[in-house]
Amino acid sequence: MTDGLVPLIAGNWKMNGLRRDLDELRAIARAAGAGAGPRPEILICPPATLLMAAAEICADSPVRLGGQDCHSEANGMHTGDLSAEMLADAGAAYVILGHSERRAEHGETSETVRIKAHAALRAGLTPIICVGETRAERDAGEASSLVAAQLKASIPPHPGPALVVAYEPVWAIGTGHTPTPTEVAEMHAFIRAELAADLGDRAARVRLLYGGSVRPENVTEWAAIDNVNGVLVGGASLKSADFMQIVSAFE
Ligand code: PGA
Repeated sequence: MTDGLVPLIAGNWKMNGLRRDLDELRAIARAAGAGAGPRPEILICPPATLLMAAAEICADSPVRLGGQDCHSEANGMHTGDLSAEMLADAGAAYVILGHSERRAEHGETSETVRIKAHAALRAGLTPIICVGETRAERDAGEASSLVAAQLKASIPPHPGPALVVAYEPVWAIGTGHTPTPTEVAEMHAFIRAELAADLGDRAARVRLLYGGSVRPENVTEWAAIDNVNGVLVGGASLKSADFMQIVSAFE
């Protein structure tokens, strides 16, 4: 954790979730509204088909909503795409950008991510920019140079404090394998320093999330690390009980 920053616990539902699964979101919204003490900020990024229904469910709760990607344009001839403005209109406050699954499956480059991040800020959304190395890159000792290059190319020039960076080693996503707490601590300190070189004092306000096989069983390891200001959770965000256990580690 870092003094002065409200932790962000973000759930990425990916391509999972039908209307019946909104019961899990209802349970998250109920639990989030119930706590008395200071709570971390809670965010769920459902598939876009559920955003409007999710916004109704979360209307009276502190749970925020986000998209999982957006187009760079506000509107136009882009069949199948969604703009940041559309996500905001549907109830999103955040958007995940440059997730490794999009980088791998849709050929997204850091340059694309930067243009999308600019679009997100234009629409009033907070971009969550994902970076992270593959196993081969880590084994070759290239993790930090790769992450530095991704950061440099993905972050728009004047992001303001409304920026979140998620460090997600590709090899930890959905695998049950995670880096050691020392490796995460080193990478997050490195990311903070890289951001400071580019953004100056504003870098201290950027929340840095760890993502990759975050589970109720291992979350206390991440919550104890300096410069880990929350987590980005895939699989374990689909079950409200697991997700809320992860939230409570940051209370
Ligand atoms: P996971 O996914 O928690 O299922 O590993 C994390 C992510 O891809 O954001």
